[in-house]
Amino acid sequence: MSKQTAVTSVKPVTSLDIRHSKGDRKLTMLTAYDYSSATLVDECDIDMILVGDSLGMVMLGRDDTISVTMDEMVHHTKAVVRGTKRSLVIADMPFMSYEISVEDALRNAARLFQEGGARAVKLEGGHSVVPQVTALVRSGIPVVGHIGLTPQRVASLGGFKVQGKTAEGANTLLEEAKALEAAGVFCIVLEAIPVPIAARITQELSIPTIGIGAGAECDGQVLVFHDLLGLFDRFVPKFVKQYANLRETAASAISDYKREVEEGSFPAKEHSFAMPEHEKEKFEK
Ligand code: KIV
Repeated sequence: MSKQTAVTSVKPVTSLDIRHSKGDRKLTMLTAYDYSSATLVDECDIDMILVGDSLGMVMLGRDDTISVTMDEMVHHTKAVVRGTKRSLVIADMPFMSYEISVEDALRNAARLFQEGGARAVKLEGGHSVVPQVTALVRSGIPVVGHIGLTPQRVASLGGFKVQGKTAEGANTLLEEAKALEAAGVFCIVLEAIPVPIAARITQELSIPTIGIGAGAECDGQVLVFHDLLGLFDRFVPKFVKQYANLRETAASAISDYKREVEEGSFPAKEHSFAMPEHEKEKFEK
């Protein structure tokens, strides 16, 4: 048998693949913030990996996403890109990295693209970010929109609350979604909005909608890695399904390690290195 290893070519998912998949199949997006989690998500063929600014909460232990910086986003994006072969890596633009001006948005998105290696960026907001989205798309940076509960605006939304519960609120969301589509986003995240609004937006747009707390009629779904795996226990939003309780599994493994070290059963022979007998004898003389 030839010593040559088989070269398996992996075709990376692009923003165009995502845009054109509407109606063909359900899309998957999951967050990841480091190399190891990215390899795992990528190997499971998740379409899109979001380096979310939720890293401020689940990785850095902060109360919200507001204090996440560009440097932190670039740092985590680089690690995720190193662990990804196929999934489309999307980096979140953190609070105040795009709101002040279009120039700021271009400069900061370019950092996530060039230094970080992301292949798309996501920013929160409706009509107010249309000029930024238009400029980014024109300069060749694919953009994901995000409306509904936009965590960067948690202070003015009065908390992590469901959005668009009134007919007026629902119409505003629909108008925002259409404005973002016209500005060129290739998909749009709908967070914490009632099912009928998400369904209507999904019907009326020609780009995919990705829901989180927005019901099953969206074109795809996104969850936070730590929520899906049961690794974050500070709070669990209603829209989260924990597919595992890795916190419990990890805690039991760590306790086993502590017990074995304390009782002297770890490390065992198979975890230790021997010395040639004659060298050992010379050493012991
Ligand atoms: O930062 C994040 O994880 C997000 C998702 C919740 C969509 O924006």
